[in-house]
Amino acid sequence: MAFISSGYNPAKPMEGRITDIGPRDYNDFLPPVIAKNKGKWAYHEILEPGVLVHVAESGDKVFTVRVGAARLMSVTHIREICEIADKHCGGHLRFTTRNNVEFMVDDESKLAGLKADLASRKFAGGSNKFPIGGTGAGISNIVHTQGWVHCHTPATDASGPVKAIMDTVFDDFQNMRMPAPVRIALACCLNMCGAVHCSDIGVVGIHRKPPMIDHEWTDQLCEIPLAVASCPTAAVRPTKVEIGDKKVNSIAIKNERCMYCGNCYTMCPALPISDGEGDGLLIMVGGKVSNRISQPMFSKVVVAYIPNEMPRWPSLTEKIKHIIEVYAANARKYERLGEWADRIGWEKFFELTGLEFTHHLIDDFRDPAYYTWRQSTQFKF
Ligand code: HEM
Ligand code: HEM
Ligand code: SF4
Ligand code: SF4
Repeated sequence: MAFISSGYNPAKPMEGRITDIGPRDYNDFLPPVIAKNKGKWAYHEILEPGVLVHVAESGDKVFTVRVGAARLMSVTHIREICEIADKHCGGHLRFTTRNNVEFMVDDESKLAGLKADLASRKFAGGSNKFPIGGTGAGISNIVHTQGWVHCHTPATDASGPVKAIMDTVFDDFQNMRMPAPVRIALACCLNMCGAVHCSDIGVVGIHRKPPMIDHEWTDQLCEIPLAVASCPTAAVRPTKVEIGDKKVNSIAIKNERCMYCGNCYTMCPALPISDGEGDGLLIMVGGKVSNRISQPMFSKVVVAYIPNEMPRWPSLTEKIKHIIEVYAANARKYERLGEWADRIGWEKFFELTGLEFTHHLIDDFRDPAYYTWRQSTQFKF
């Protein structure tokens, strides 16, 4: 495409520059019924999966229809969302913290038309464009990351596995039969962008081989001390190596100390670590962010490795579905997955789910590892 200037002058980059203006004030975008009743809501109800009503002290009502979204979306899709908002909601809409979309109407009579319109829209491949759901004790959207769509450090993809998992648990997006909400999150590397460390079910991409070392470039591309300091197990040290007749400053890695976190690659482009066969995913369970009943919890690793199986990750989706079913059948009402596993004991969690307990699951990272072992005779056979 031929170049079209926006008016920016590269010869005078600072001229006419606007900066530090921040985001638009959210009040600019409120539907009238929200603006009028802000801070004066009396109560709310979940009318059905995906549909809520909030009633204000004034008696005003606002009906919300929540729909699933792929998070990664085209401008065409956003335009379609806008078209729906124009048609039914006076041009207003919002995105949730789990990247679902919410359409709001101020009168019950507008609800049926909106719902029917949303449910009728499908992609050519057959997938729902705007599946209604994600409320109450069900499974809402999966908080996820960039994967092979955009990042350079992933050990797995994000959009692909998320689509495969949501297809597997789709019924539970559209109903509320769980003991409590089940939050699923996915991160494509141990940086854990997002919420994997605090979700009922977390999926994380992992490596199983140490980085390769591009000695020729290490001292050219990297600030070597930064790479040394990036290693949580101090496996990285500076060294000199001979390449042909040249002696260069480079890096050495103690493979037996390396646990393949990939942090040194984040700091140093000369330490690539990804590997088709070696890379895969692990499953963590039992995290939560809310303070309801129990304090927030970190999720714990319960499956140390599942291979990447593109494009549908069948072993991963099967395990997740199984964990969810065992939880749904055994936990008490309001009990989050982590609360349930803590109450019955993790040995019972492994027994009920049939997941294999391997040595990988035993914490061996520094002093705090000790506190994850059992200093008690209290256990069940
Ligand atoms: C100097 C380091 C980094 C640079 C230059 C960088 C650059 C970028 C760029 C250019 C985008 C795309 C923005 C767009 O599409 O409009 C992006 C997106 C993103 N980055 Fe980074 N990034 C860096 C570090 C990180 C780190 C350390 C993390 C996580 C710990 C991260 C997580 C993300 C995520 C989650 C997105 C959004 C992806 C999506 O929505 O598809 N980035 N980054
Ligand atoms: C002060 C710290 C942070 C700021 C200011 C910040 C800011 C942002 C911004 C502006 C976006 C893009 C929102 C959008 O336009 O859609 C974003 C998205 C995101 N951030 Fe952060 N972020 C911070 C810390 C983090 C951290 C520490 C992580 C992970 C460990 C993280 C993970 C993500 C992810 C996964 C997204 C993508 C969400 C999505 O598009 O679905 N952020 N963040
Ligand atoms: S989790 Fe890792 S691989 Fe995925 S987007 Fe974040 S930094 Fe990149
Ligand atoms: S991958 Fe992680 S553990 Fe291995 S050398 Fe690099 S920083 Fe250290």
